[in-house]
Amino acid sequence: MPESLRPLLEGKQIVVCVGAGGVGKTTVAATIALGFAQQGERVLCITIDPAKRLADSLGITMSAEEQLVSPELFTSAGLEIPGQLTVLMLDTKRTFDDLVRRHASSPAVRDRILENRIYSYVSTSLAGTQSYMAMEKVLLVRQDPRFDRIVLDTPPTSNALDFLDAPERLIEAIDSAAMRWLVQTFEKSGRFSLNFVARGVALVLRGIGRLTGKGFLEHLAEFVVELNELFGGFRERAAAVAKAFRAPDLAYVLVTSPAPAAIDEVSYFAARLREQGMHPDAVVVNRLQPNPPPASLAELISAARELGLELSESAIAGVQRAAEDDRARARFEAEQLELLDSVLGAERPAILHVPVLSRDVHDVRGLSLVSARLFP
Ligand SMILES: Nc1ncnc2c1ncn2[C@@H]1O[C@H](COP(=O)(O)OP(=O)(O)OP(=O)(O)O)[C@@H](O)[C@H]1O
Ligand SMILES: [Mg+2]
Repeated sequence: MPESLRPLLEGKQIVVCVGAGGVGKTTVAATIALGFAQQGERVLCITIDPAKRLADSLGITMSAEEQLVSPELFTSAGLEIPGQLTVLMLDTKRTFDDLVRRHASSPAVRDRILENRIYSYVSTSLAGTQSYMAMEKVLLVRQDPRFDRIVLDTPPTSNALDFLDAPERLIEAIDSAAMRWLVQTFEKSGRFSLNFVARGVALVLRGIGRLTGKGFLEHLAEFVVELNELFGGFRERAAAVAKAFRAPDLAYVLVTSPAPAAIDEVSYFAARLREQGMHPDAVVVNRLQPNPPPASLAELISAARELGLELSESAIAGVQRAAEDDRARARFEAEQLELLDSVLGAERPAILHVPVLSRDVHDVRGLSLVSARLFP
């Protein structure tokens, strides 16, 4: 196992944490940000929906503004942080709205887009929009001289690939052949006849999700036409974002737990990265059983004796059961780690282990415990 994430992320201005839902992406992203601040960098951590207790303890409110974590918080937790940690809560809709405001050719176009029903669906509920906007945000702040490094926590997706494929999927949904046909029809006729376009619409709906109601087609075509104008061709815009996902100074840290579904997901993600000529920079296996394994029964009995306690038979049986559970868990985790090793293949990235802590990671102290593993 390598000593630290530090050398693995050398020269990577942007660090993206991806993984299955609930494995600890937000925790790891916050820890990485803390780790770089600890070495004197000014770090921006873009996060999505952090656990409320963690946000509260960092003094972060659920606003979309950048918020500097108070240096006193670190000092009172006994940490010396020569750098700075700024947190930005990603607000998908607001990021999209800002994009519209920045690029719209006129106030009238801006308002038409912002008020369009299809827009409100795409900017809030379309799968992949959140990931896409996360990258838009990264593109925006990467030039910001106030930050040395950006750490991006990614949304809980049902599939981490939603993240990597987000721009393309949006292009597909918005710029599919059916959609283009729809737009052309709209431009030619100026209005739709429902029967006439029904077949095309069925195709579009498959891409864009289920959305019906009066005026839907008009909204849809209007939205696409205006969005295209907005971005000088949405395709090019999304392609630029897609390219940013593959930049050489962008690092992917895959986060997983020992659960088979989470391991599956990072394996798949790593394979997809490889297909695209990229590779993960590190894998963090979070929530492993703590090492070393619990004491043997004999050790426990003698430790109890030293405390002047005599363990009853039922207590001993309970301890034995617990020890058996622990051993089974350790065997299971060892198998999962072996599996991970084999699926990542010969060119596997460094794999770092983080044990499950006795409590949730909900404050600076908790983060520093995880940090001790990732940045020893
Ligand atoms: N090593 C750990 N030990 C104990 N608790 C942990 C550890 N890592 C994470 N947790 C806790 O697990 C919960 C989920 O972690 P986190 O929010 O980081 O996951 P996530 O992958 O971001 O989830 P989501 O996919 O919902 O965004 C949190 O309450 C966090 O404090
Ligand atoms: Mg999260």
